[in-house]
This record gives sequence, C-alpha cells and structure tokens, in this order.
Amino acid sequence: MSDWLGIAGRRAVVTGGGSGIGRACAEALAAAGAEVIAVDRDPSALAGTGLAAESCDISDEADVTELARRVGACDILVNAAGIIRPGALSEVDIADWNALIAVNLTGYLLTSRSFAPAIAERGGGALVHVASISGTHPQANSGAYSASKAALILMSQQLALELGPRGIRSNTVSPGMVRTPMTEQYYAVPGVTERRGAAVPLGRVADPDDIADVVAFLASDRARYVSGADIVVDGGFTTTMMSWVPRPGFE
Ligand SMILES: NC(=O)c1ccc[n+]([C@@H]2O[C@H](COP(=O)([O-])OP(=O)(O)OC[C@H]3O[C@@H](n4cnc5c(N)ncnc54)[C@H](O)[C@@H]3O)[C@@H](O)[C@H]2O)c1
Repeated sequence: MSDWLGIAGRRAVVTGGGSGIGRACAEALAAAGAEVIAVDRDPSALAGTGLAAESCDISDEADVTELARRVGACDILVNAAGIIRPGALSEVDIADWNALIAVNLTGYLLTSRSFAPAIAERGGGALVHVASISGTHPQANSGAYSASKAALILMSQQLALELGPRGIRSNTVSPGMVRTPMTEQYYAVPGVTERRGAAVPLGRVADPDDIADVVAFLASDRARYVSGADIVVDGGFTTTMMSWVPRPGFE
C-alpha cells in the first residue's frame, strides 16, 4: 500500500488511547506506519492490542511532565482523553465543573506544552485535539462540557499562533455523535441509535474510525499548511437547522 499519509516511522502520542475515539486514532496511526504510544489514565484495556501503552492522568501536571520525559522523541500529539459530567448550569456541582475543565481543557494544555519541545526538536509536527460540535452548539444539562470544548477550539488556535514559528501545527476535530464507551449509555436505550441516525443527513451516527481518519489526515504532512482549523466531522448534522423551519410548499 502506498504511504499516502507519509507518517510511517513518525512517533505519535495519543491520549485517551485506551478507549473509543482515542483508541481508533492510535490504531489508524499505527496502521499508517507510525510508532504509537497510547496514553490513558486506565491503560489496562490496551493489553494485547500491540500498541505501546503509558499510564498518565493528563490533568496532573507532574504526571504529564514525567510522561513527556519517559516518551522522549515525538512528532505527533493527538489529544483524545475526555470525560463528561451531567448538570444544568444553575445547579452544577463546582467540583464536577472543575474536574471536567481539568481534563478536557487544562489537560490538553499540559500535554501540548509538555510535548511541544520534543516535536520542535524533530523539526516540527502536529497537535490534533478532539473537540466536539458541543463547542460551537451548547448542549443543555452537560455541565462544563460545551464550555470546555469551546475553550479548547480557541486554545488550539492560540497554540497554532504561538507554536507555528517552531513548525508545529495545531488543529481540532469536532465530532458529532459517535458511538463509544463514553456514550454507550445512550445507545443502549432501544430506539436511540435509530432516532439519532435519522437526525443526521448521512443517516447514521459515527463510528470512532470516522473521526480517526480525519485526525490521521491532520496529523500528516498532507495537512502541512493546515493550522488553527477546526474540522467538523458530524455527517452534516450541524447544517440541519433550516430543516426545522416550516415552509409550506417547499417540503
Ligand atoms: N463519543 C462522542 O459522541 C463524542 C463526540 C464529540 C466529542 N467527543 C470527544 O472525544 C474524546 C474521546 O471520547 P470517547 O467518546 O472516545 O470517550 P471514551 O470514554 O470512550 O474514551 C476516553 C478515554 O479517555 C481516558 N481518560 C479520561 N480522563 C483521563 C485523564 N485524566 N487522563 C488520561 N486519560 C483519561 C479514559 O480512560 C478513556 O479511555 C473526548 O474528548 C470526547 O469529549 C466524543
């Protein structure tokens, strides 16, 4: 197979690599020939996958610093670790709010700035962060989730500005609805998979691979002039707003 992506031999760190989208990203990069280090707070699920696994809590600065020291050389960082916590803003528990921001936003900053020097030392590379359409479209009763993703999209753009002169690109991918262990609780309810799929122009929710292929593209030299971008990967879902407007004669 031709090495279209051109990432064979690159060293890639993937946070959240133990599950869902992060796991799919780690596998996609490995399939494209990269040397992948899958990082997770709970790396037990990585046993037997053939991927190199490292344990790290990305919300813990000392843990992340130590991870970067252990890993050493790096060309690509994919940030896919994440958590959800429920709660309306009027009553969300501030401990839950802070815990979510600590992983979904501060954790992405800690890994980005800890690995940037190693990436710069190799002549440049790529940061790819998994954001969400919830970062541009607020999701009710989800505590700090939408705010964390909105801030991540802007933080990625700021990283693109600050790290661009060192040859480092920074981009986000914003998935729509993806069936993963994080969201399995919804899909386990009869009918939800079909109803969610029916709301998407492409007629289905995403598999983690649908997101991972776009992450791999952004991580590769094929996206060498793409930085500060947010690529929405939602099957067209966020373009459906006008479909809700009754318009007699135009149905
Ligand atoms: N599933 C979806 O529908 C969806 C949609 C949009 C965006 N996302 C985003 O995609 C990313 C991956 O989500 P997923 O659905 O694959 O979830 P997931 O729960 O399947 O995987 C997340 C992984 O992150 C790890 N993790 C959590 N906190 C961590 C920490 N502090 N340090 C290290 N690892 C930690 C978990 O152990 C888990 O393996 C998240 O950022 C999520 O917000 C998911």
